[in-house]
Amino acid sequence: MGSALGVPDEKMLALADWEASPLFNETERLALEYADRMTITGRDVDDAVFARLQSVFDDDAIVELTATIAWENASSTFNRALRVESQGLWKPADARSGQDALHVVGDTAGDPAALPPLPGDRGEEAVGILTDEMQRVVREQKLGYVATVCPDGTPNLSPKGTTAVWDENRLVFADIASPRSVANLRANPAVEINVIDPIARKGWRFKGRGVVYDGGAMFDEVVAWYRRNGTASPIRSVALVDVERALPLISPAYERGATEAEVRRRWEDYYLHTLGWGRRGTPEGC
Ligand SMILES: Cc1cc2nc3c(=O)[nH]c(=O)nc-3n(C[C@H](O)[C@H](O)[C@H](O)COP(=O)(O)O)c2cc1C
Repeated sequence: MGSALGVPDEKMLALADWEASPLFNETERLALEYADRMTITGRDVDDAVFARLQSVFDDDAIVELTATIAWENASSTFNRALRVESQGLWKPADARSGQDALHVVGDTAGDPAALPPLPGDRGEEAVGILTDEMQRVVREQKLGYVATVCPDGTPNLSPKGTTAVWDENRLVFADIASPRSVANLRANPAVEINVIDPIARKGWRFKGRGVVYDGGAMFDEVVAWYRRNGTASPIRSVALVDVERALPLISPAYERGATEAEVRRRWEDYYLHTLGWGRRGTPEGC
């Protein structure tokens, strides 16, 4: 509905982190603060906040806003209790336009220096939930941390260096040695994958549902793609993750006012000089 009313996609994606985002004006920030105070356990709508609301909204608007937030809370409580999964009703504008998804670009375990072309390089546009920026980070990093849910409800987190973009709505990883992740996905498709640029200290958390293929046309197609991109290890199965939500992950360093250039410099310095990753050859003196 927000999109139908003209709310840009960037704002929809920034909602989870609205306090840090520069995209929201004062009125919107007040409404979001009110929503958080109504929703988050331990917070409250105190007199000062209510007075600020009354200075901006008339009584009808406050009642409407309160009813909307209360309804969203009720529906999320209902859905959580009955395990009703996200319907994936909201997608970025490109996906809403109904174009066919551009198929397969991505990369994994081959030559780390050889990045595959981005959609734009081929004169095509990304059209799904995975924006060009998200796809770029996944392609460059080649490493995702995959969280699945064990039967006893505990988390299972493990790295997958075969994490790649399959298309504009799906990520993929290869099961080379991942029995627990695969078993979990077969029993419960809920999955989250985090991909982080360790220099920029930024990345994305992708939440969605995973499907495991260990044979058939889809399995063959994905394995052939991995082979073309240099993965030589035996692949037991592949997991395709339909991304339903993509949220930014940003280091708190940015909240303290650091620019990306400063953050990059700091961490390049750490890896290159403190850890010495950039050095070649035999160290001097021994
Ligand atoms: C950097 C790194 C990348 C890895 N990439 C993969 C991968 O792409 N696929 C895989 O099956 N295992 C990969 N592994 C190994 C698994 O993470 C490891 O076997 C883990 O124990 C699997 O746990 P699971 O059964 O809970 O999935 C990787 C490990 C590391 C450290």
